[in-house]
Amino acid sequence: MAERYDVAIIGAGPGGYAAAIRAAQLGFKTICIDKRNTLGGTCLNVGCIPSKTLLHATGLFSILQREGSLNAIECSQVKMDFPKLMARKREVVKGLVDGVAGLFKKNGVVSLQGEASFIDPHRLRVSSGSQASEIEADSIILATGSEPIALPGLPFNEKNVVSSTGALSFLQAPKRLLVIGGGVIGVELASVYNRLGSSVTIIEMLDRLCPAMEVALTKQLLQILKKQGIQFKLSSKVVNAVVQPEEVILTVESEGQLQNVSGDSVLVAVGRRPYSQGLGLDKIGITVDRRGFVPVDGFFRTQQPHIFAIGDLIDGVMLAHRATEEGVVVIEWLKGERSNVNYLAIPNVIYTDPEVASVGLTEQEAKETGRSLLVGTSFFRGNSRARCTGETEGFVKVIGDRETGRLMGMHIIGTHASELIAEGMLAMQLGATLAEIGQAVQAHPTLSEAIKEAALQALGRPINS
Ligand code: NAI
Repeated sequence: MAERYDVAIIGAGPGGYAAAIRAAQLGFKTICIDKRNTLGGTCLNVGCIPSKTLLHATGLFSILQREGSLNAIECSQVKMDFPKLMARKREVVKGLVDGVAGLFKKNGVVSLQGEASFIDPHRLRVSSGSQASEIEADSIILATGSEPIALPGLPFNEKNVVSSTGALSFLQAPKRLLVIGGGVIGVELASVYNRLGSSVTIIEMLDRLCPAMEVALTKQLLQILKKQGIQFKLSSKVVNAVVQPEEVILTVESEGQLQNVSGDSVLVAVGRRPYSQGLGLDKIGITVDRRGFVPVDGFFRTQQPHIFAIGDLIDGVMLAHRATEEGVVVIEWLKGERSNVNYLAIPNVIYTDPEVASVGLTEQEAKETGRSLLVGTSFFRGNSRARCTGETEGFVKVIGDRETGRLMGMHIIGTHASELIAEGMLAMQLGATLAEIGQAVQAHPTLSEAIKEAALQALGRPINS
């Protein structure tokens, strides 16, 4: 006999677990199924959380090494204990995944470990080892996320040919790390190992990093990462790979020339693809598109109107916070509440040093709308707080609509950009104008003053630049 629920959610990542909690809060009898032994999905277990923990610790390490003397601190003996660093990462992950289990308990979400597949449109078989159970639900939410894409001829072994998962769990920092793909994962993990002393080379197919981000930011990011010691092969393609236990040799084609580069390990970070394997979607009449995304309508409904899909499984930017919002919105719709995701106001952050953060349209995208634009830039070298801390690299760029004055996009490269972008996100959410941003009183001295200054600059009346 199948156990009956109002809502069954497959996947306990940031999309699935938030949906489950909201569903239980709104009175639905809710079950959340995940094949991992721990909750939290990719983000908490092998993604955002472990990577940001490593980025923070190695960031501190590198600041002390590079800039201690700038702040009059004598720190010639700074050392990194790699096993302790990894233990710290595991501790942070454990705290957060246990926290999700606690939230499930508190809110009354039933959590089931196992792999779910459809028996029919309302029934799921959930298998775990030799055990299997059946679940029946009125509404089902697919939140199974995504998986790393491997390159042909270079399958992951998670030892010396690694995805981000393997690169977050090396037993020691590789002496020479090759990174294929200069996207978000590539530059973040290259930063971690560069700071730990690895010789790191990024091989990127395009002529620039992080192609989805504002070009002015990524140009500066490239210069800064080069200065930090990361080596780059842009406009370069890997055409052959030889993997030996002690060494990986890649043949790289750049501008028609072939060259061999070798390393102890290679991280392949060329993107992720939606993960719907094993769900048996074909059995219930749901077909995925050619890239593997589950097609949905404006209400996240699949070809089966009681089955919804959210997050990395559907087309769009693959970000944890986007999945969370979609999960919550679907549940609120099921309850008859009015709710929506504002896709224009979703921030995007790269946690390098300095950080890179964007919200809204890039200048190119804004131009393509055909609107007349106001663009303003304020550099942190002219910001007094940045001068106090010595973190003067980078700038804030704002793009506004000349006619309405409204902010269309904000792009920041600089220290704490991940937090500063919250001002841009709120401004976009509330439809604020550049004049309103320019009028708002910022505390002095703060980095936020650069946001005000960029808005004033766009309006042609800067004070400090
Ligand atoms: P990505 O899409 O950000 O970057 C992939 C890069 O690989 C691109 O620059 C692309 O041009 C390049 N590439 C593709 N094929 C290649 C080839 N054969 N040879 C050389 N270069 C090649 O994908 P990434 O970095 O793997 O990240 C996956 C997803 O995870 C992204 O959607 C990202 O948004 C998300 N993520 C977000 C983070 C954040 O918000 N801070 C952190 C990590 C991942």
